[in-house]
Amino acid sequence: MGKPTTPRPPAVPDMKTGADLAAVLPITAEVKDGHLFVGGLDMVELARTQGTALYVMDEATIRQQLRDYVKWTRFHWPDVDTVYAGKAFMSLAMCKIVAEEDCSLDVSSGGELAFALRAGFPMERIYVHGNNKTPVELIECLEAGVGRIVVDSFEEMERLSALAVERGLTQSILLRVTPGVEADTHDFIMTGAEDSKFGFGRNQGLAMQAVKRAIELPGIEFEGLHMHIGSQIFALHSFAKAIEVIVEFMREIKDATGVEVRLLDTGGGLGIAYGLPDEPSTIQDYGKVVVDGIKAECERWGLTVPRMAVEPGRSIVANAGVTLYTVGSIKEIPNIRTYVAVDGGMSDNIRTSLYDAHYEALIANKADQPREMVATVAGKHCESGDIVVNDAPLQCPEVGDILCVCATGAYCQSMSSNYNKQVRPAVVMVNNGTARVIVRRETYDDLMKCELG
Ligand code: LLP
Repeated sequence: MGKPTTPRPPAVPDMKTGADLAAVLPITAEVKDGHLFVGGLDMVELARTQGTALYVMDEATIRQQLRDYVKWTRFHWPDVDTVYAGKAFMSLAMCKIVAEEDCSLDVSSGGELAFALRAGFPMERIYVHGNNKTPVELIECLEAGVGRIVVDSFEEMERLSALAVERGLTQSILLRVTPGVEADTHDFIMTGAEDSKFGFGRNQGLAMQAVKRAIELPGIEFEGLHMHIGSQIFALHSFAKAIEVIVEFMREIKDATGVEVRLLDTGGGLGIAYGLPDEPSTIQDYGKVVVDGIKAECERWGLTVPRMAVEPGRSIVANAGVTLYTVGSIKEIPNIRTYVAVDGGMSDNIRTSLYDAHYEALIANKADQPREMVATVAGKHCESGDIVVNDAPLQCPEVGDILCVCATGAYCQSMSSNYNKQVRPAVVMVNNGTARVIVRRETYDDLMKCELG
């Protein structure tokens, strides 16, 4: 991941109002009395009562996305598990929503597992990821009774086997395979993903070696395969291509060992609209390509259709979220650009500096006005790369305005930091006219809680 999604045209005032930004906003977004509303609540009022910077998550959008995945994958095959990738946005409230929607949860560290445990998430619905799970993390997983561990290396497999045998357990595992197909934003590149720190390369024979070892080792049970070809993918044929490769590998496994893959997890990666020009694929089309693709390839090779799993992260939460900031200063550099500085920045959204990500922005208290200028939204951190949105069409800003950055629900709070000892913003879940603080704003005491003097 790292590329902007759709090549961006030069920024010009586009005269769009908040009402024109529906494609990147939560499903409940509306403009009333000149203000942006989400979840039935006035974002300007919410910013005033909760303070800024503030992450806002719309519960209705999150639930709808989870339900869409369940619906449009099971539409084609009854046994498909929707596994939310917790790395996109993880909190206790989020774990509970995922549990209530009967979905599973992908955790990729002991910390994420601790959240799932604290939230009372059903452990049999946990998938554990990571290319270097520590022995301590493996023990935590075994003791918690997680559903499956996605094994990523030979060392990990041996370690897990020994730890499970010591405890008299048998742990179900998937093997992560790199199919040799790397998804680019709009296309796929064959062989690219072979150079990857993740998984066992199929083309080098390592994946087959791993399957054979998994079948013979005690304490682990080989249930199936996992792959993840990338993130923010627009072109569904990248998934189709990778599915062809992995199902053919399933046939090779059957030929070589007689064992059939019982669970095939095709990872996450469906792209979302960050900018108005972005046209991501729908969950409905994704479900068809993935699930029908697996079925067709299995039929081609005479294999039993396995249980399936998909692991979406970004496409569940990204458009459910917005970040609200207060405009603190406006610097117009004649003939160059206008900087609008806000009370957050790279500590709450690192994606712009890290990936050159692009976002749409609007002024929540002028949501019915056209975006008649272009400005760069800058953060408050001590470096010039601290930009939240480069060259954003925007309503004319004034100090004190509430600036809303759209589609920040994924990989913003989860990748946040305390750089410059900035406290992390609160997260407010909105739904049907009510606001619930699900993560409170940090305090200076929080910043010092690990300091021993
Ligand atoms: N499953 C596995 C094994 C993954 O590694 C990931 C994401 C997902 C599922 C979920 O993928 P999604 O549906 O969210 O694309 N920090 C980057 C994204 C890194 C994604 C890492 N793995 C960003 O901000 O764009």
